[in-house]
Amino acid sequence: MAMKAANFIEPAVAAYAAAHTSPPDDLLAGLAEETHRLVGERITMQIAPEQGTLLTMLVRLIGAKRAVEVGTFTGYSSICIARGLPADGRLIACDVSEEWTAVARRYWEKAGVADRVELRLGPAADTLRAMPAEECFDFAFIDADKAGYPVYYEEILSRLRPGGLIAVDNTLQRGNITDPDAGGTVPGMREFNDLVARDPRVTSALLTIADGLTLIRKN
Ligand SMILES: C[S@@+](CC[C@H](N)C(=O)[O-])C[C@H]1O[C@@H](n2cnc3c(N)ncnc32)[C@H](O)[C@@H]1O
Repeated sequence: MAMKAANFIEPAVAAYAAAHTSPPDDLLAGLAEETHRLVGERITMQIAPEQGTLLTMLVRLIGAKRAVEVGTFTGYSSICIARGLPADGRLIACDVSEEWTAVARRYWEKAGVADRVELRLGPAADTLRAMPAEECFDFAFIDADKAGYPVYYEEILSRLRPGGLIAVDNTLQRGNITDPDAGGTVPGMREFNDLVARDPRVTSALLTIADGLTLIRKN
């Protein structure tokens, strides 16, 4: 099956790294298969399995209880985040697509995390802005329309506890991030990466996993 893969890492090395990362269970593998049947080549919208393993690990490592996700799609990343939360934890999942999140809802039930996940349908900028200023998150994952990243970042950062973590996907743009002639979403992502790198409110690390994943800790 086609998988989201970095094209800036030698394929054999990327495959080796994936093969030496704890693999997805049957439920996540089944979700990836079903999503592939549903959307074909757009399966690349789904996070890579090794990112899913990392998300669960990060959520557990920081002891997160309250999480928010921007860009749920068919639910892969939300399940990985929800599985890292304690039984009384809560994930707010934001997306605009009823069709895709219907699959996610089904898999939240199967995974036994439905009681931890609350879906908010609608443009995520509106959803986040409508949250009370005192809403407080420990963990956030941003993986939606790239033009919205600066707004999602600001709205989430202001509601993140100190020491909380934001993970942002696709920050290397398949390796095109350093190409000055690249168009599309690349220039906007470069601006976003620059904004984060010079933001004194946070400490960040851009990881060369999958399509680039930036980890941002609120100081
Ligand atoms: C790359 S996919 C997310 C993949 C998901 N994280 C996963 O692991 O399967 C991007 C998602 O963002 C959603 N999206 C696009 N624009 C949005 C917006 N303005 N507000 C909320 N969600 C949006 C799309 O419907 C799509 O499901």
